[in-house]
Amino acid sequence: MKLWGGRFTKPTNQLVDEYTASIHFDKKLAKYDIQGSLAHVEMLKVCNIISQSDADSIAAGLKAVAVKIENGEAELSEEHEDIHMNVEKLLIEEVGPVGGKLHTGRSRNDQVALDMRLYLRDALVEISQLLVDVQKALYKQAGENLDTVLPGYTHLQRAQPVLFAHHMMAYVFMFQRDVERISDSWKRVNKSPLGAGALAGTTFPIDRNLVAEQLGFDGVCENSLDAVSDRDFVVEFLSNASLISVHLSRLCEEFVQWSSAEFNFIELDDAFCTGSSMMPQKKNPDVAELVRGKTGRVYGHLIGMLTTLKGLPLAYNKDMQEDKEGMFDTVETLRGALGLFAPMIETMDVKKENMYEAVSKDFSNATDLADYLVGKGMPFRESHAVVGQVVLHCINKNKYLLDLTIEEFQSFSDLIESDIFDVLVPEAVVNARDVEGGTARNRVVHQMELAEQLFDSS
Ligand code: ARG
Repeated sequence: MKLWGGRFTKPTNQLVDEYTASIHFDKKLAKYDIQGSLAHVEMLKVCNIISQSDADSIAAGLKAVAVKIENGEAELSEEHEDIHMNVEKLLIEEVGPVGGKLHTGRSRNDQVALDMRLYLRDALVEISQLLVDVQKALYKQAGENLDTVLPGYTHLQRAQPVLFAHHMMAYVFMFQRDVERISDSWKRVNKSPLGAGALAGTTFPIDRNLVAEQLGFDGVCENSLDAVSDRDFVVEFLSNASLISVHLSRLCEEFVQWSSAEFNFIELDDAFCTGSSMMPQKKNPDVAELVRGKTGRVYGHLIGMLTTLKGLPLAYNKDMQEDKEGMFDTVETLRGALGLFAPMIETMDVKKENMYEAVSKDFSNATDLADYLVGKGMPFRESHAVVGQVVLHCINKNKYLLDLTIEEFQSFSDLIESDIFDVLVPEAVVNARDVEGGTARNRVVHQMELAEQLFDSS
């Protein structure tokens, strides 16, 4: 007999049971469902809605059910559709008909909204922590590479040299915004929907704030219709997760490129790479590729959730059961990726000489020659043209700027003097960008100090 079977005259078609059941995925909410029920029953007791002894046996029964589910001893069945009704059924088996008092003044609609929020709270804490671990790994690589110069790119063409530390710190600040977005979302997640009932509230004299307090919420959802039909907090999480995935994926792409023979800037540790079943020489950056690849599923869940909600009338609709799998999968996807990233970054070998070699054999100091001429009074637009000519000359002669003689330089502009050779070396080029946020060593050290303060406060 179904818990709601009273008005039915036939058993449910088995295909309907299979189709509508969510127990095979919402069993992940078991712990939170029971946590919420314990708070609810405590409130029913305090508000004299059920007797102390009924409340105590329900609470004891819920705890016993929790242990059984945890140990895999409880049978969770499709017949009972979802985690909420399975727990209630198990409770009644455990303590008898008194278990049927638990659902007083409550609906699965406010219950499921509560469970989702409880689950997400834990996930947000965990993901923030994992993000900080990744930030710290990047920060550590930055500290070890404050003198490592590599080409910086725009359009994937060598542009101007930067410190590898600067490059690592760019990701530290990206992930910082992700951490901040998660922590900002907290105030919207951390409100209790319980007490909204099915949609309109309840006739029982419940105390919503008491439940909220027990569960560590900052308050209650203000409107019962909104409380049971809002999944903004899921969308917001999926959106924040999508941005985390963008950032991870961009870093993945850099790792894949840098570890190719063409770049040869880093080598990922053997423990974080895989081989080929056919080609014995291969060492593939599979982790980076797969993290990049899994970005698609996270975006997919965001679009899926937005689409599910679009056009739903208030209040609860069964469509909303579709909120779960995407959220769970996103949490698991991020957990997997972020957990691998910190050790993969920490253990990677940075090939400083190869980076330096690359930056010495390019024209990424051309802007500095133009800036030098500006320093001697030439308008920038003119110096840009002059240096363009110098670069063209070099290309024709198969030389780089530092290979030119002073006479060659002076044939383009007599403003150029022999100090130009000191100006154009990669370290000087980097350190000339001594502006807040720039790549000069002292400025990158300052960025690292700012990051330390962020880590301390997170
Ligand atoms: N399994 C449902 C869900 O996840 C729980 C709420 C069901 N409520 C209802 N009235 N059918 O959304």
